Amino acid sequence: MPAFSPGERRKVREKLLRWYDAGNRALPWRGESDPYLVWVSEVMLQQTRAETVTERYPRFVSRFPTLKSLADAPLEAILSEWQGLGYYSRARNLHRAARIVAESLQGNLPEDKKSLRALPGFGPYIAGAVSSIAFGERAAAVDGNFTRVLSRLLDFSEPVDVPAIKVALESQAEALVPPSRPGDFNQAVMDLGAGICLPRNPRCQACPLSRHCAALAEGTVAARPIKTKKNPPSEVTIFQLWAKSLDLIRLVRRKEKGLFGGMWELPSLMVDGRPAQPDEKPLTRLCRSALGPGWRSGGEIARLTRTLTHRKILFIVLRATKKGKNSNNKKRISPDDSSIWASAADLEALPLPTAQRAVIQATLDALSRGQENLFD
Ligand code: ADE
Repeated sequence: MPAFSPGERRKVREKLLRWYDAGNRALPWRGESDPYLVWVSEVMLQQTRAETVTERYPRFVSRFPTLKSLADAPLEAILSEWQGLGYYSRARNLHRAARIVAESLQGNLPEDKKSLRALPGFGPYIAGAVSSIAFGERAAAVDGNFTRVLSRLLDFSEPVDVPAIKVALESQAEALVPPSRPGDFNQAVMDLGAGICLPRNPRCQACPLSRHCAALAEGTVAARPIKTKKNPPSEVTIFQLWAKSLDLIRLVRRKEKGLFGGMWELPSLMVDGRPAQPDEKPLTRLCRSALGPGWRSGGEIARLTRTLTHRKILFIVLRATKKGKNSNNKKRISPDDSSIWASAADLEALPLPTAQRAVIQATLDALSRGQENLFD
């Protein structure tokens, strides 16, 4: 595996920090030294674009200004504030880690990468970012940007998503981070990756490190980093029930563990592939468990496709109807808090995955276009 000479390493550090000092991006978390706020910003930034985080971070930290306020808040409030940012396990881990720090560590985050790694949600990237930016520890924060920049500088010819190669790359990154200003250095690499060393059409003419870039010298920039072929997204179909009683819509809460855990959705049945309709038995079971006796599923109201991480999902919304008269729903929320007859205001307030909001909107649009009668 290629590596920098000590002299070259020194030059790379100097040039990159000089470039950063000359015009680093004005972002709301830049210059922040409160470890809690640095942590929140890095968690948001890990899988969400900086432009989106720039809009959402100030709102989040004004609602949860301290680690204690986050630890004391119910998970539901945090998930609500996280809506639209995606990858909700980040919000759940923030909450779990905040509680551990508040209860067992006197409210103080550990200051080094190794100790931080013991907390929920602290992978090598977040632990490196927080320890270097908030505590000045010499530690690398290796995200996709750092990986790309380093792969090109060293003209790495091996796939960076293979675990053994990842480890080797991480140790090269650790060696590159300088003992002074490690947090600024990490952020300079991130900025270089976000504005110059782009995945496609990198702006090498404007790069402060072009003289040190082995891939540029070899003409292999476009081919770096190398990744093993990813599996194409698998196809699944989610049948969902649109059950209306008076002006209320039935929603159920997802299990706490797993994708979108604790969030709300229309009652759902997920099946592999693209079947035209779901099997009778599981659908009947769903009607019974989510809606109660007397409910049946009927025709399709709306459909929508969404690609989420590695799955291409087709949502098909089916009308559900109840035999006999609709009764007044005395028990709007089930005793175990796992289902609700939701009003329009509930729909606004409850945490729903973004795709689910799109499904509900598509259903309302289809209904109001007159394909279905809103009040039948
Ligand atoms: N992406 C992840 N962390 C970042 C940071 N601190 N500044 C800019 N972009 C980032």
